[in-house]
Amino acid sequence: MIDSFGRSISYLRVSVTDRCDLRCVYCMSEDMTFLPKKDLLSLEELDRVCSAFVSLGVRKLRITGGEPLVRRDVLSLFQNLGRHLKTGDLDELTLTTNGTQLEKYAQGLVAAGVKRVNISLDSLDADRFRTITRWGSHAQVMTGIRAAQAAGLKVKINVVAMRGVNEDEFDDLVAWCGQEGFDLVFIETMPMGDIDGDRTSQYLPLSLVRAKLARRWTLDAIPDTTGGPARYTRCAETGGRVGFITPMTHNFCESCNRVRLTCTGMLYMCLGQDDDADLRAPLRAGADDGLLLAAIEEAIGRKPKGHDFVIDRRHNRPAVSRTMSVTGG
Ligand code: 5AD
Ligand code: SF4
Repeated sequence: MIDSFGRSISYLRVSVTDRCDLRCVYCMSEDMTFLPKKDLLSLEELDRVCSAFVSLGVRKLRITGGEPLVRRDVLSLFQNLGRHLKTGDLDELTLTTNGTQLEKYAQGLVAAGVKRVNISLDSLDADRFRTITRWGSHAQVMTGIRAAQAAGLKVKINVVAMRGVNEDEFDDLVAWCGQEGFDLVFIETMPMGDIDGDRTSQYLPLSLVRAKLARRWTLDAIPDTTGGPARYTRCAETGGRVGFITPMTHNFCESCNRVRLTCTGMLYMCLGQDDDADLRAPLRAGADDGLLLAAIEEAIGRKPKGHDFVIDRRHNRPAVSRTMSVTGG
């Protein structure tokens, strides 16, 4: 699938639920209203849409949420999608998770063909972790991370950089991830969805983070190998990779290869734009995939050139009204 700007679309991110067992302050308000369960695509329907994308050339699938591992029976989706790895039609099946359920699922994920996992962990301190997630247990996530490690999953830690919240821990995170053999990626807060707090005060440009890290660590730029928006460096002292996702300060849309499916079957061609395509209707119109395939191809043709996220005092409004937990991180 090639879009109208010549970009090849080979990566689908799929949010399988908008629910989450945490309430990270930058992501959700405390009293989030979730979608009625009846609006969700069934796991069989999710499989069908994903498989349609694979037949159109998608080589990489990432299962996200909300928290994907709180969806009931989610492992069966991984197991079913794993068949495309076996045939060679898919290069990678992976997920982004908050880690709370990994103790239960790590081995099953590996058995389904998952090799890597992105785990969100914004603090190494239990009290602070609880404050950021509003009620999360740091110990539970650490147990999940250990289980992922023990099952042989390659782990990448995602850290949302927040001014005055976790910025004093970045050196420790570099050291810890280096020691454990985890990749580490810092992410800027993106203006998505209504949260309870003020984003201008949380926003911390990663240019500052990188400059500060450079006082203690030697970070050598390395070519990006993941095809994602992160710019990677190799930390000379730890040997680990340290990446930066800077949607706010660096525009990476030119090389965007991805689209996102929500748990209700809406396809978003860009994380930062409102344009979408309903895939649920063509999916449910019949057992034949013809309409679905046509709807996907039409949507890809509408993929916009890029996003226009801004966070400043005049624009202290979300750029898009849906949270990341709807579109999938
Ligand atoms: N801005 C930046 N990162 C966010 N995430 C969730 N919401 C936001 C936001 N508004 C992060 C999660 C996870 C990743 C997929 O996205 O913490 O690590
Ligand atoms: Fe849940 Fe992830 Fe949102 Fe945190 S950032 S509330 S873990 S979906």
